[in-house]
Amino acid sequence: MTDSILDLDRRHVWHPFTQAQTAPPPMVAVGGRGAHLLTEDGGQVLDLISSWWVNLHGHAHPAIAAAVADQAARLEQVVFADFTHAPAARLAAGLATLLPGDLDRVFFSDNGSTAVEVALKVALQYFANIGDERRRRLVAFDGGYHGDTVGAMSVGRSSGYFRAWDGLLFPVEMLPFPASWEGDQEVAAKEAEALETIERALGPDVAAVIVEPLVQGASGMRMCRPSFLVALAARVKAAGALLVFDEVMTGFGRTGGLFACLKAGVTPDLVCLSKGLTGGFLPMGATVVREAIYRHFLGEGLDKAFLHGHSYTANPLGCVAGLASLELLLGEACRSRIAAIEAIHRGRLAALAAAGLGRHHRSCGTIAAVELGEGGYGSAAGSKIKAFFLEHGMLLRPIGSVIYFMPPYCIEPADLHRAWDVLGEAAAGGVGGAT
Ligand SMILES: Cc1ncc(COP(=O)(O)O)c(C=O)c1O
Repeated sequence: MTDSILDLDRRHVWHPFTQAQTAPPPMVAVGGRGAHLLTEDGGQVLDLISSWWVNLHGHAHPAIAAAVADQAARLEQVVFADFTHAPAARLAAGLATLLPGDLDRVFFSDNGSTAVEVALKVALQYFANIGDERRRRLVAFDGGYHGDTVGAMSVGRSSGYFRAWDGLLFPVEMLPFPASWEGDQEVAAKEAEALETIERALGPDVAAVIVEPLVQGASGMRMCRPSFLVALAARVKAAGALLVFDEVMTGFGRTGGLFACLKAGVTPDLVCLSKGLTGGFLPMGATVVREAIYRHFLGEGLDKAFLHGHSYTANPLGCVAGLASLELLLGEACRSRIAAIEAIHRGRLAALAAAGLGRHHRSCGTIAAVELGEGGYGSAAGSKIKAFFLEHGMLLRPIGSVIYFMPPYCIEPADLHRAWDVLGEAAAGGVGGAT
């Protein structure tokens, strides 16, 4: 008899962010269609988290699938130190056109963490290249999460995921993040206090400040006002440091604008992209850098060059997926779907708040969050709410007491309303201590 997929998995696979001893067995995915994942037992699950925030247009979207299949039959991979190719050049040009100012130079890598590592290394080397050896310090925000490699962990240390490696991370000063929500009376005071701290922190030794613009994802969909980012950018610029926007999660329409930097009206010096970059088809990262910074990496020898790369840098399959995804994203149909999700989120959050259910209701574009019950990451309350949603055929990953929806843009309005109905039931029924 052959082993089942679950038997093989149980014996040989190590799952991310999971305590295997206590976690329920994983579901076996055999397919995807639109906003649904299809499981081995013939069931389907509504993917309310876009499979860890990557899927934009629905699973197995035929236009992206066809583009990848066509490219795979012609050129699957090529060393990017010696070659370029049409998908990479076109995707870089497309990103440069969409991003503001002179954010025109694209460095491709493998995922969100590497997009961040590249940004940090470019920022530090930039100051070395221009002869300002003092600027070696990085500054980040409390609650920020930027990935699981060592540099990304260092700037994301306060997210609380990295205690096992504490002593190995390099020192980074953490600034307060003025997280806010609907009806928050304290927001102006929190922002003023944060900006004061930021001014004090921005000494002549700071190379770069990194922030998740508008929404801190992994620490619980903590949202700030666009005006805070405008004020932050002005202070970082005045201090002569570089501003890095980690748009790994917020990019490609998630916040309602094409990018959070456009929505906030801020032109940062570097932007990190991944997740939605390929519409959820292939792992890929991109760090977009202002041309004025890139110029300082040019010279006669290798000493000023950026000596960094990954085997799969600018993989052609990832690039064509990116191009096909961008085409869908820029279409009128996608824009109106994003607007519809935004309107449903707003209306349903307001109704929950009016019914006295949940705390700190907030939304930004296609992301909506509310707090129910108590508890940190992986808490029993979160697990019970997750299980309750699964009983209704819906996938969630609560972050502690934060319940959030971040669906693919193709989700049917009726399905999204159903998800809000289930959330209302969970809150009214006190599932997992939720109220
Ligand atoms: C804002 C942000 N930056 C970076 C990352 C890391 O991305 P990856 O998991 O692709 O390495 C994440 C992942 O959740 C993220 O949300």
